[in-house]
Amino acid sequence: MRIAVAGGTGTVGRHVVRAAEERGHEVVVLSRASGADVITGKGLERALAGVDTVIDVTNTTTLSAKVAREFFETATRNLLKAEDAAGVGHHVALSIVGIDGIDASYYAGKLAQERAVAAGRVPYTIARAAQFHEFAGQLLGGMKGPIALMPKTLMRPVAAREVGEHLVAVAEAGPVGRARDLVGPRDERLADLARRQLAHDGIRRAVLEVRLPGLYGKGAASGVLRGTSDAIQGTTTFDEWLRSPERAAV
Ligand SMILES: NC(=O)c1ccc[n+]([C@@H]2O[C@H](COP(=O)([O-])OP(=O)(O)OC[C@H]3O[C@@H](n4cnc5c(N)ncnc54)[C@H](OP(=O)(O)O)[C@@H]3O)[C@@H](O)[C@H]2O)c1
Repeated sequence: MRIAVAGGTGTVGRHVVRAAEERGHEVVVLSRASGADVITGKGLERALAGVDTVIDVTNTTTLSAKVAREFFETATRNLLKAEDAAGVGHHVALSIVGIDGIDASYYAGKLAQERAVAAGRVPYTIARAAQFHEFAGQLLGGMKGPIALMPKTLMRPVAAREVGEHLVAVAEAGPVGRARDLVGPRDERLADLARRQLAHDGIRRAVLEVRLPGLYGKGAASGVLRGTSDAIQGTTTFDEWLRSPERAAV
């Protein structure tokens, strides 16, 4: 298959690209660096010529519901329009496990993305995954100062590599509407992951767990992000990932 990976240079996108190439697919990467912009629409239609399936793993980093909705709705609208024009037969969107009912902050954007995909004309699959093992490091990297504040979050983190492999399998299976969720092998707390990562890296920095207010904070602290027992389970634990060469390569 010819597969376009929108966001193919990102944390999970790089794993999607590698997994698709390993499975013998022809891969086209869509990112601003490659001249394709999902927000302005520039370069999309040309890049999608001859493409069978688009896997959308684009992202914006924000806690604003408004900014997140605008990004994911616009990106999806532009991608689906270009896919329709190019005759793409399958749109795969990566979303997040357990976000139903958390229509706030970043998750409001992901729910808006899911609605836009389902309302579109291109046959689709929405594949939800739990937080990546990389998530704690992404938050730590975005915070300055001697104390890192981590929102109280109960989760079942999964390696982005396994998410990438899962998305390629979802693309190969064809459009099904909603794929089975993918979660990691163990229940974890975000603050504990941050502490273990800092200790592993030899960085002396305190981590303080804080319960965020509002729907987002309530949802994150409730355990719903861990998903349900019918989810597919990844096998790489956070501590295995921490020591792995795949983490060093990120
Ligand atoms: N992080 C998690 O724990 C987690 C868990 C489950 C699901 N997800 C979902 O996984 C997806 C990817 O997350 P990530 O952390 O891998 O993202 P990321 O590392 O921030 O990468 C974002 C990608 O999007 C591209 N991009 C951003 N704006 C673009 C634009 N206007 N046009 C074209 N490409 C654009 C970036 O490339 P350029 O900058 O070169 O354009 C980059 O390739 C998100 O949808 C997220 O909701 C994340």
